[in-house]
Amino acid sequence: CEKKDGWPSKQRLLVVANRLPVAAVRTGEDSWQLEISAGGLVSALLGVNEFETRWIGWAGVNVPDEVGQRSLTEALAEKRCIPVFLDEEVVHQYYNGYCNNILWPLFHYLGLPQEDRLATTRSFQSQFSAYKKANQLFADVVNEHYEEGDVVWCHDYHLMFLPKYLKKYNMQMKVGWFLHTPFPSSEIHRTLPSRSKLLRSVLAADLVGFHTYDYARHFVSACTRILGLEGTPEGVEDQGKLTRVAAFPIGIDSSRFIRALELPEVKDHIRELKERFAGRKVMLGVDRLDMIKGIPQKILAFEKFLEENPVWQDKVVLLQIAVPTRTDVPEYQKLTCQVHEIVGRINGRFGTLTAVPIHHLDRSLDFHALCALYAVTDVALVTSLRDGMNLVSYEFVACQAEKKGVLILSEFAGAAQSLGAGAILVNPWNITEVAASIGYALTMPADEREKRHQHNFMHITTHTSQEWAGTFVSELNDTIVEAQLRTRQ
Ligand code: G6P
Repeated sequence: CEKKDGWPSKQRLLVVANRLPVAAVRTGEDSWQLEISAGGLVSALLGVNEFETRWIGWAGVNVPDEVGQRSLTEALAEKRCIPVFLDEEVVHQYYNGYCNNILWPLFHYLGLPQEDRLATTRSFQSQFSAYKKANQLFADVVNEHYEEGDVVWCHDYHLMFLPKYLKKYNMQMKVGWFLHTPFPSSEIHRTLPSRSKLLRSVLAADLVGFHTYDYARHFVSACTRILGLEGTPEGVEDQGKLTRVAAFPIGIDSSRFIRALELPEVKDHIRELKERFAGRKVMLGVDRLDMIKGIPQKILAFEKFLEENPVWQDKVVLLQIAVPTRTDVPEYQKLTCQVHEIVGRINGRFGTLTAVPIHHLDRSLDFHALCALYAVTDVALVTSLRDGMNLVSYEFVACQAEKKGVLILSEFAGAAQSLGAGAILVNPWNITEVAASIGYALTMPADEREKRHQHNFMHITTHTSQEWAGTFVSELNDTIVEAQLRTRQ
């Protein structure tokens, strides 16, 4: 691809995800405040400089009027973002419904919701229709902005129909799809009424990526068992057409965290936190308030530890940051109440007039406060019941160069495959085991902590988000060249 002046220009990368990397807040009829949300995908792609990146996604707000849509489109263009407008009903049925009430729990082995299992096929059907409709709206916007030679990278379980719809528009489009959650065993996937349609739609992509080799293997098994297709070492073959399937474990922009620790503002935060918790070991949990994160199980394990180790009762504190998420979905509302109830009970049981064992916050922290918190932590607890990767574990390690704290990590998080040798791996369902691991972590000798930390630190600084994104996109380009060579032979 060449510019008019003869110099090669960068290849355009269209990143399509349900959520844009900026959240929009309306401040007037045609004015908007845009806030960058530095999630995993955003920071992953920030460091990718070889491509001219455009984002396509939902801005997270309902904008029913034309003036609003036009002005938001203009404001987002400055951030290289292109909005997909979804009305309230579609958001309710597609995002709250099919994405977050059906696919999300199913892909994390929590099964289909009871009501749907018991025959409310009407609501299942309407949610599925809204899902397809939303995917079609995304496809329309991509198609409108697509230029020959662009690479289109679709993200996550929200957009499983997108590869098929895009290829229907243009067979030549280079389309990749990446799943940020686990892909479950085919025995779980086959319970989903729309199991085949979703698989077939994803297979329309040229390259399909997962965080771990296991998820990729589950996907290939689902295609062979449910669709009767052929699985090969490269991927899945259907009547001579190969869809490449592979593992691309995501990472973080570790240097951003390491640099932040040098900022005076962060150093001040660290000093304050050290004073605040002087004489106590700090344990930390940072999670979205989601059932997959195993927050109730984690807190119950902490209670068991305190119960069995009275000497620790006033010497350790658990700071749990629980970021509210998907608050319109009833399951998430129930979870919030459940967590509050458990925290209240334990603080009532073990608290004193001057201190409580658990500080539970229902909100997010800004980046600098978060880095400071990671840096003063003695033991981080990541006890997801299932998790695609879990980058909190990576972020914690990035901020521990001085302290060399211990990471307790669920064996059901994708990160267990990369940080397994440095972390203490636990089964989060086994509260006795997690309680014992807390005791082990709090008393671990310094040389063992150092060794474990070095292992993890080496991994997270060499397997970065930039490397992840660069590898996926170049593999997608290569896949297409190989496919062209194959058809010419
Ligand atoms: C997970 C998903 C992402 C999603 C994020 C936040 O990490 O894989 O696609 O954006 O959760 O959830 P939300 O529903 O707020 O976008």
